[in-house]
Amino acid sequence: MKCLFLALMAVGLSACNQQNDNTAYLQSQIDSLRVNSYKPGFGEFMSSIQIHHDKLWFAGQNMNWELADFEMSEIRESLDDIKKYCTDRPEANSIDMIEQPLQNLDNAILHKDKEAFVKHYRVLTATCNSCHQKTAHGFNVITIPTAPPFTNQLFKMQNEK
Ligand code: HEC
Repeated sequence: MKCLFLALMAVGLSACNQQNDNTAYLQSQIDSLRVNSYKPGFGEFMSSIQIHHDKLWFAGQNMNWELADFEMSEIRESLDDIKKYCTDRPEANSIDMIEQPLQNLDNAILHKDKEAFVKHYRVLTATCNSCHQKTAHGFNVITIPTAPPFTNQLFKMQNEK
């Protein structure tokens, strides 16, 4: 009986050890995923914002308000991603300075007001540059685009004249 008890204890202990081994193994896998998983950098999010900032201008110029609204949400998505994924970059703390200019532009788009759109697009662009200056990236100068970024996209709605 005593023998049986000891044998059961031994089995129990070895199961315990095995579980510890598994936990350690899983933890090492999680750690390696954390280190090795791909995470876009600040500059990649900014490059995406650059494209949508550009398209936004031509959407507004063509009074394609639905597209303008879409481009605004794409810009916001990348800004949110910076906040989420670039927590190691202190520059991310300055993101909020762009919120008011974005809201003003949202308003212009909502009211389909081209004049207000142009005015607030300029303020938005100036804010891009203010943040670049503030974060020691003043050499990245953003301007009002002069030509659409792509030749394979229409900015004017087809059913409008
Ligand atoms: C938080 C302040 C901040 C705001 C607001 C901001 N940027 Fe940036 N931007 C940065 C920083 C910091 C970098 C450098 C990123 C890096 O390290 O690669 C950058 C880089 C860039 C780059 C260069 C990307 C590359 O790798 O070539 C472009 C283009 C850019 N921003 C466009 C914009 C546009 C357009 C806006 C406005 C709609 C904007 N940014 C608003 C901080 C900002």
